[in-house]
Amino acid sequence: MIMKKILVTGGLGYIGSHTVVELQNSGYQVIIIDNLSNASLDVLEGITNITKTPPAFERLDLRLKADVADFFKRNQDIEGIIHFAASKAVGESVQNPLLYYENNLNTLIYLLQECNAHGIENFIFSSSCTVYGEPDSLPITEDAPVKSATSPYGNTKQISEEILKDTCSISALKSIALRYFNPIGAHETAEIGELPAGVPQNLVPFITQTAAGVREQLSVFGDDYPTEDGSCIRDYIHVVDLAKAHVIALQRLLSKKNQSNYEVFNLGTGRGSSVLEVVNSFEKTTGENLNYKIVDRRPGDVIAVYADTQKANKELGWKAEKTMEDALKSAWKWEKKIRKIK
Ligand code: UD1
Repeated sequence: MIMKKILVTGGLGYIGSHTVVELQNSGYQVIIIDNLSNASLDVLEGITNITKTPPAFERLDLRLKADVADFFKRNQDIEGIIHFAASKAVGESVQNPLLYYENNLNTLIYLLQECNAHGIENFIFSSSCTVYGEPDSLPITEDAPVKSATSPYGNTKQISEEILKDTCSISALKSIALRYFNPIGAHETAEIGELPAGVPQNLVPFITQTAAGVREQLSVFGDDYPTEDGSCIRDYIHVVDLAKAHVIALQRLLSKKNQSNYEVFNLGTGRGSSVLEVVNSFEKTTGENLNYKIVDRRPGDVIAVYADTQKANKELGWKAEKTMEDALKSAWKWEKKIRKIK
């Protein structure tokens, strides 16, 4: 059997690496490109240890248009692309908007130009629930309005979706944008996981680093929100469930089961959890005591977001299977491994 060759951009990153594992486990041949700006070559080893197959890898910066064109000339047999490569720190995007627009938009345009030039028709895109802003009603369906973005990062996701939609309407391109809620956790083997550079901005890496003694104390940003316990609510989804959804979305395009050339799906669990619930769940699942304090709200945080997952359940036939406890347990196992804690 000839294995279909899939390009995964940003395949050494957090969600990318877990997706490469699921693709290889499903029989796809993977080629990764990554510029290593926020990822390490060690991830290749982790993927290989899990799947027993080393994925092909090229260090390539997608902002270099000529290099991108050259890559596709050398790789004529790519049948689909899963595009993760992008910058993702909300705060940094406010400080350096042009970096975000260049990194997240130019790269998408160059890739799509190569798709057109080489007849590559299947394209999965990493989008975010951030496009919904503070939603008018919960749970959030895919029909909820896209709100004006509050950061350049969020804006790049909105503009990227429009670029894809416009391109799909006039070419052979078929694309699925996957709007992630809050991905957490690590592979159960602890061979791969999240490796935030510097001080983590996201909740779960901050929790695990605090428990590991790398950070002194977790700050819980606000307990005066109009929610049951006063802290913000998010839909935390296990990264392995998320990774599996990418394989299913790709298969939908490859087998031409898509209903239109451009589709959007929410990827979440459908359950909202408060920050304090996550903290309590971490303590309960791992037996670790977490040093935390309540501090002021973090500017820009929305109160509550969680997904309506019915469209993904019905049309993709995908459903998140793992629990919050599974995710926190795996995140802690990973943190302990990288910090060499017994
Ligand atoms: C946001 C975006 C998401 C984007 C991500 C990138 C929304 C709804 N989500 O996620 O699309 O991909 O940024 O980083 O806009 N918290 C603490 N203490 C901490 C860290 C976080 O209390 O040290 C709280 C936050 O206030 C928030 C929750 O934990 O309520 C989750 O925060 P985080 O992990 O940063 O993700 P979002 O801000 O939801």
